[in-house]
Amino acid sequence: MSRLIPRGSSTRAPRHAARLDVLNGEGAFDVLARATELEALGRDVVHLEIGEPDFATPPHVVEAGVRALRDRETRYSPPAGIPALREAIAVTAAERGIRADPADVLVTPGAKPAVFYAILSLVEPGDEVLIPDPGFPIYPSAVRFAGGIPVPYAPDALGRGDVGTLVATVTPRTRVLILNAPGNPTGASLDTATIEAIATLAERHDLAIVSDEIYARLTYDGHPAPSPAAHPLLRPRTIVVDGFSKAYAMTGWRLGFAILPPPLAERVVTLAVNGHSCTPVFVQRAGIAALTGPQRCVADTVAELTRRREIVTAGLDAIPGVRCAPPAGAFYAFPDFTSVLAPANLSIATFASQLLEGCGVATLPGTTFGAAGDGHLRLSFAAAAGLRTALDRIRAAVAALGTPSATRPTPQETLT
Ligand SMILES: Cc1ncc(COP(=O)(O)O)c(C=O)c1O
Repeated sequence: MSRLIPRGSSTRAPRHAARLDVLNGEGAFDVLARATELEALGRDVVHLEIGEPDFATPPHVVEAGVRALRDRETRYSPPAGIPALREAIAVTAAERGIRADPADVLVTPGAKPAVFYAILSLVEPGDEVLIPDPGFPIYPSAVRFAGGIPVPYAPDALGRGDVGTLVATVTPRTRVLILNAPGNPTGASLDTATIEAIATLAERHDLAIVSDEIYARLTYDGHPAPSPAAHPLLRPRTIVVDGFSKAYAMTGWRLGFAILPPPLAERVVTLAVNGHSCTPVFVQRAGIAALTGPQRCVADTVAELTRRREIVTAGLDAIPGVRCAPPAGAFYAFPDFTSVLAPANLSIATFASQLLEGCGVATLPGTTFGAAGDGHLRLSFAAAAGLRTALDRIRAAVAALGTPSATRPTPQETLT
């Protein structure tokens, strides 16, 4: 393809604003791009990098979207979303104990813009924001973009009413706490006792909460995923973020939403008007079908993910020197490779790169999710293709390191 501006031309690109320098990408999209390049060169790559379900969007959802297109619902929507979808979201929220009026709901093109708008709406320059580490990399990026200071906390240390890990990080400048349960990448969950303790903490320090609940429908072993916003003290200080990408296999439709504290709703809608105007109506019609139609599709998704979780976590845990706990929710395994990598003096980023370039397995190094992810890989089991092949390749790559713990027999092997 010919370039509009020839290389070496004296025409200069405009100077970019410094605020762009604080943003980071998502990692998963970068690795996906490299994996796709390798495939174009004829290499066989197993994709465990991206959190994208391989299920088809449920037919009744597709049908609703197509019908809306045929009915020429192809014009602008009200900026906050069409009333019927805002109503359906409020009703579904009520089923989880969140009291919300349709007027508190902002529909967005994906959950990600809702995360971005929530952070831009709450964070002032110099504010400290507690973010999960390891956690979704967009949180610290958006916080810095707003001029805030991301302060990491360990999401896996929260539980049974113990919020010591949060207490240790709160200062007079702390303004917002970002929660993500079940969480990406560790699957960390929140129980009601912990939500109660968070409510006390939030009241004491006047914290706002952003609660990203995009994986709330994808939990295992009947694990509940209570919303912090169902707590009466937290609802007025919480922005709930959720979306359709994961539970309804709708990543490419781009549909998400925020449930806002009433006084904030109108202002955040104004921010959304500045950002994207509105979400396509035919996509919103599909969203109504997803929420109000049969939920069997979600149950089937959870059943299949449960099967994959078992294969992946058991397969990883059986690799000598590797430890992998089954996640309570979401669709990621987050195994710890520290004891096989440290003796080889190999960083997790180098190991992930070797797995991709040399073994054809695309994963993400845990450091993509923050410093506390060091030593771990994130493997998505949202797609089934090649899962067992990937496990075989990872096992072989670990064995090839030849480090003592990688060659030590597992307890099981010792027994047999
Ligand atoms: C924790 C978390 N929040 C939000 C999103 C974004 O979802 P969406 O596709 O709806 O923008 C993701 C996607 O991976 C995620 O893992």
